[in-house]
Amino acid sequence: MSEIYDIPARVREGSDSPLATLDGWRAVRERTANDPDGFWLDVAKRRVKWHREPTQGLEGSFHTIPDGPIQWFADGTLNVTESCLDANLATRGDKIAILWEGDEPGQVRTLTYRELHAEVCRTANALKALGLQNGERAIIYMGMVPEAAIAMLACARIGAIHSVVFGGFSAEALRDRVRDCGAQAVITQDEGMRGKRTIPLKKVTDEALEGERGVKKVLVYRRTGGDVDWVEDRDVWWHEIVPEQSDDCPAVIVEAEHPLFILYTSGSTGKPKGVVHTCGGYLTYAAYTHANVFDLREDDVYACVADVGWITGHTYIVYGPLANGATTLMFESLPTYPDAGRYWDMVERHRITVFYTAPTAIRALAAQGDGHVTKYDRSSLRVLGTVGEPINPDAWRWYYDVVGEKRCNIVDTWWQTETGGISISPIAPATPTKPGSATLPMPGIFPVLMDGDGKRIRGPGEGRLCIEFSWPGQARTVWNDHPRFVATYFQHYPGMYFTGDGCRRDADGYYWITGRVDDVINVSGHRMGTAEFESALVSVDAVAEAGVVGYPHPIKGQGVYAYIVLQPGYEPSDAIEAELHAACRTQIGAHAKVDLYQFVPGLPKTRSGKVMRRILRKVAEGEPDKLGDVSTLADPSVVAAIVAGAKV
Ligand code: PRX
Repeated sequence: MSEIYDIPARVREGSDSPLATLDGWRAVRERTANDPDGFWLDVAKRRVKWHREPTQGLEGSFHTIPDGPIQWFADGTLNVTESCLDANLATRGDKIAILWEGDEPGQVRTLTYRELHAEVCRTANALKALGLQNGERAIIYMGMVPEAAIAMLACARIGAIHSVVFGGFSAEALRDRVRDCGAQAVITQDEGMRGKRTIPLKKVTDEALEGERGVKKVLVYRRTGGDVDWVEDRDVWWHEIVPEQSDDCPAVIVEAEHPLFILYTSGSTGKPKGVVHTCGGYLTYAAYTHANVFDLREDDVYACVADVGWITGHTYIVYGPLANGATTLMFESLPTYPDAGRYWDMVERHRITVFYTAPTAIRALAAQGDGHVTKYDRSSLRVLGTVGEPINPDAWRWYYDVVGEKRCNIVDTWWQTETGGISISPIAPATPTKPGSATLPMPGIFPVLMDGDGKRIRGPGEGRLCIEFSWPGQARTVWNDHPRFVATYFQHYPGMYFTGDGCRRDADGYYWITGRVDDVINVSGHRMGTAEFESALVSVDAVAEAGVVGYPHPIKGQGVYAYIVLQPGYEPSDAIEAELHAACRTQIGAHAKVDLYQFVPGLPKTRSGKVMRRILRKVAEGEPDKLGDVSTLADPSVVAAIVAGAKV
């Protein structure tokens, strides 16, 4: 029996949500099963400002997806910034929309809804002046400054499609994304700031764009004043073009299925995919889940400390909170700068009520001792969220007991870039929790567990997590590659969306995500493909072959373990390791770091030449006695060498 935590009284009190009790959740869930179109149309009309209200719910299904994307609210028209900005002006014009905390503690900037509206309009006019048009793509390669959110909204204001690239990605990774989406413009800043370190965003942009003809304009926000190179006729300073623009910019009205953004994410094979989200369905789902999971209240100070470079930042820093008229915090720095008390210092100073972070941060901070937490007043907190990777029960309990003083509910939210918003999670005032479980599905999400033979598991059991019916927030396609979208998500189990995750369902119907079952690894909540690492590693001259897997890591969740086969004539050395390290950094980014290298005489392969990744995984997980059947190996002696030299 696992422990169950009931909801602290103060989390339940004062909630007026229909989902504020488990019975309420059941009733809503039943409606989403019996009348999904009616339910989601109601939500869409309530949460989103439409130019023309939709009358249609879902068109298409997971069975018809190979022939064309799913559509939601197809006859509706809107501009998402009207929900996020204009709709809040009358009632909340002077409420703080964005509360920015910079790299230094207490370095604060605020933008009210009125100010944000004006700034987005000016920036949208600037983008128009630079030639960016409805339907064209702009890459946003920035740190955590309000201007990153402003740039996203400014694109949306004029119907342009943004693609935010996390500021840790390298020039090569940035160039790949610029090319793949055919970007006409890049929006960046001179440098990013994190824990006193500067990140040379403009320099990396310049490298990425060398020889790229498609990008006509680069808009550069000045954050630090650091020196940057300048390309005449291409580069434009934000402060030279934006302030002089009119703060009136009529929103370009688009169809519900107009793409809002492309976000690149890693998969099992090949290069990252450009996951496409569209305006009407995405915004509906972002606003609905944000309001309900966290049980948002009008006077909440809501803080999600993710980066806008990932889906969490899109949905739960920018679009969901602004559509709900919330005060949303943007945090530029690190949880450990200047010390491990930074988050709780911010909670005290800003009176944060809802706080949302990743298990990695929780584990890292727990390891620094309780003193960094208890020295600050956390009495404002009501809901504590986690996202991005499985949270181990110890870290969960520390979050609950120490950070939340047993007064807050924990929402362990499971979702993905592709799902657009939270899909399995407690509803803060309604769902009793179990440490380590994402608990129950959101209304409208119908999870299914499939066994190894492709059969549906009923009741308790463990299998592969799929979702049976469409929901408005789901990704519609992969940019320029619908066949890849179909092959990745809809072909494993016909008629179902396959998540790539393993999952257990217990006797109470609670879901426990066990991690990826494909070749994706999740390091500190950063999703990376083993294929991306392998391709970087084999680009080093000395390397013949590379096999990369994840292994359990006490803080990062997973670490990266690389098996390296050298070319004849090369010996393992520190110099080669340094080269391998540099290859990952330049081809993927600073966050792509191999933790352990093992030099091996060969990779374990079947007689048909396929690498048996299971063996690589088991050895890296410290379970060499559980290799299973190795009789199909071409050369069993390779396994003995791998086991003998294991690094764990
Ligand atoms: O493996 C799951 C893990 O993160 C993956 C999705 O990564 P990404 O698209 O980058 O989005 C992360 C932020 C939504 C999932 O396939 N994951 C995410 N949340 C959880 C999780 N694993 C366990 N528990 C979670 N709460």
